[in-house]
Amino acid sequence: MKRIMVTGALGQIGCDLVAKLRKIYGEEAVLATDIRQIDHEIVQSGYFRILDVTDSTAFYEVAREHRADTIIHLAALLSAKAESDPALAWHLNISGLLSGLETARALSCQYFTPSSIAAFGANTPKNSTPQDTLQRPLTMYGVSKVAGELLCDYYYHKYGVDTRGLRFPGLISHSAPPGGGTTDYAVEMYEAAIRNGNYTSYINKETYLDMMYMPDAIDAVIALMEADSSKLKHRNAFNVTAMSIDPEKIAESIRRHIPEFTLHYDIDPVRQAIAEEWPDSIDATAAREEWGFDVQYDLNRMTDDMLSKLKGKLQAEHSRIG
Ligand SMILES: NC(=O)c1ccc[n+]([C@@H]2O[C@H](COP(=O)([O-])OP(=O)(O)OC[C@H]3O[C@@H](n4cnc5c(N)ncnc54)[C@H](O)[C@@H]3O)[C@@H](O)[C@H]2O)c1
Repeated sequence: MKRIMVTGALGQIGCDLVAKLRKIYGEEAVLATDIRQIDHEIVQSGYFRILDVTDSTAFYEVAREHRADTIIHLAALLSAKAESDPALAWHLNISGLLSGLETARALSCQYFTPSSIAAFGANTPKNSTPQDTLQRPLTMYGVSKVAGELLCDYYYHKYGVDTRGLRFPGLISHSAPPGGGTTDYAVEMYEAAIRNGNYTSYINKETYLDMMYMPDAIDAVIALMEADSSKLKHRNAFNVTAMSIDPEKIAESIRRHIPEFTLHYDIDPVRQAIAEEWPDSIDATAAREEWGFDVQYDLNRMTDDMLSKLKGKLQAEHSRIG
């Protein structure tokens, strides 16, 4: 990877991914794009362009001008937001993906886009969910992710585009806010623990979901993109995960640092229904075997890092205000 273009780069994944890619491949090699511009380090520290990914002509032109050989397509509407505007979700998640795939085909780019554990459905085996299994999701986000996995397979088989992808679980991070997914509660819980010592969860206890800490997710993207193409049997939708947890497990982990932390519940029926459709724990054997997927962070290690980074962030905020 030498000339990389990232879409949706100001989102939860993009902010961390662009920073890491620039460290590895050089600042000039990585073009960050998004439909909006905000005052953020990645806008100031390297190339940035405004791009609406549903504009296929603009997508192609921006990639051509950057001389991109790799496209990392992140722009999408996430699960909870997608349920409130399914037509927009289909348009952004599918038209945007197609614009990217067509550009990758025209410019012979390597192509990465994430799928999600939302691509499974209520009839999928809930535990140790296999890599290849039944996928009949009932959410628009899930429908668009299954269609996306298939489209990426199609562009590989039909046109030889080097498409690759991961089925991400809920991702936990501290540098950019999550963008309207069902697992956002996990991120909110850490911040609330530091700010107020309590949190009210919209997801019920004993709702187990796969999660992963952002540094592991970023390393997984880079490892997959660097992997030997001939070893990949499942190119576009590798199951990856680091832990299967519910709100109580996160609370227990937080209490090792903040013993007075309390957790309450006020269930959001929409997001609870989405969470119940998803697996409790997925099986990442194919990713381990085909390209050496591995993680550094379990729950407690992630909690230690999250709390320490968020404390530093909040102290910096206070000293700016003070
Ligand atoms: N964050 C997670 O926990 C998670 C889990 C599974 C899969 N994913 C997938 O990873 C990808 C990135 O997720 P994220 O969490 O960074 O999302 P996010 O919502 O935080 O960021 C999405 C970005 O896309 C931008 N965007 C929206 N519409 C656009 C358009 N028309 N053109 C260009 N940019 C547009 C937004 O401004 C935003 O910066 C998505 O495909 C998502 O489905 C994320």
